[in-house]
Amino acid sequence: FTINNQTVSESCPSNIALIKYWGKYDNQIPANPSISYTLNHCKTNTTMEFLADEPFSVQTFLAGNEEVKFAEKIEKYFKNIEQYLPWVLKGKYIIRTENTFPHSSGIASSASGFGAIAKCLITLDETFSGVTSEEESVRKASFLARLGSGSACRSLYNGLVVWGESQVRGSSDLFAVQYPNDEIHEIFKNFNDWVLLIHEGQKSVSSTVGHGLMNTNPYADRRFQEARENFGPMKEILANGDLQSFIKLVEHEALTLHAMMMMSDPAFILMKTGTLEVINKIWDFRRETNLPLFFTLDAGANVHLLFPNDGSEEKIKSFIETELLQHTQNNGVVKDFMKF
Ligand code: PMV
Repeated sequence: FTINNQTVSESCPSNIALIKYWGKYDNQIPANPSISYTLNHCKTNTTMEFLADEPFSVQTFLAGNEEVKFAEKIEKYFKNIEQYLPWVLKGKYIIRTENTFPHSSGIASSASGFGAIAKCLITLDETFSGVTSEEESVRKASFLARLGSGSACRSLYNGLVVWGESQVRGSSDLFAVQYPNDEIHEIFKNFNDWVLLIHEGQKSVSSTVGHGLMNTNPYADRRFQEARENFGPMKEILANGDLQSFIKLVEHEALTLHAMMMMSDPAFILMKTGTLEVINKIWDFRRETNLPLFFTLDAGANVHLLFPNDGSEEKIKSFIETELLQHTQNNGVVKDFMKF
């Protein structure tokens, strides 16, 4: 095949895990399967300019500003995937990316970012070496995204997405698959995810370091087993629409992720005071109103507020505005939803 100058543009959304991936083996093989919702609005838009006559180098711009650190990360990533894309080190890249959500928000920009880069690479690959089926190219992009950031492989599909060998049909450690749509109750197909921006600064411990600390965590094996086991009830819940059990399982997963951080050596805590205040207020609100507002957490202080779009959301929204926003920096909230 011939490689020549090309410019491609792709967009990819972020995702939020319900059963969490935390801990991995070599080559980005997850220690346990995970399942996530792909967000609707929190996206990364990436334009990749490939200059085939130049020596290999990577230049990156985030919202117009040059980002040298990110370029180094991408260079390393390209070297790592050369075994799958033999042309990848044969030119210069100018990569311009833009997030549709605040950069410092701690919303998983690595998932949407690597998702978009992987999509650009697959588009380039297909212009050089021939187009495969749509299904095959999404799978390849998911495979490549995984090698950049594990959770990114789930962002290539819409709706509920599974990564890691599990009871879910066709699931794999190497790429993500879409959770079968006909096995999902309607209530879970129209859901809100509002991210409360509790703390907009840099995280004290990166997810790379966090995953690594699972290697010496005495609770790790039990945790990996529990995550695998949680797929049993999760499948049932998704099929029968049991919202109360969904809430219990999703919150348990979030707290377990952070418990693992506290049980690491050295221990670390990514939650902030505001995170705990919001969690307690959510629990009080549920006790008092019985309304289905609940939370999940990523590897950071921000709180993802989850609630269905089923007619009960007006009271929930006004509770968030009046009681929860005060725990954020600058009234920060990113309102997203899942609809499929
Ligand atoms: O994709 P990574 O390596 O940044 O790991 C992120 C892991 C969590 O976001 C904390 C959980 C998950 O499954 O997305």
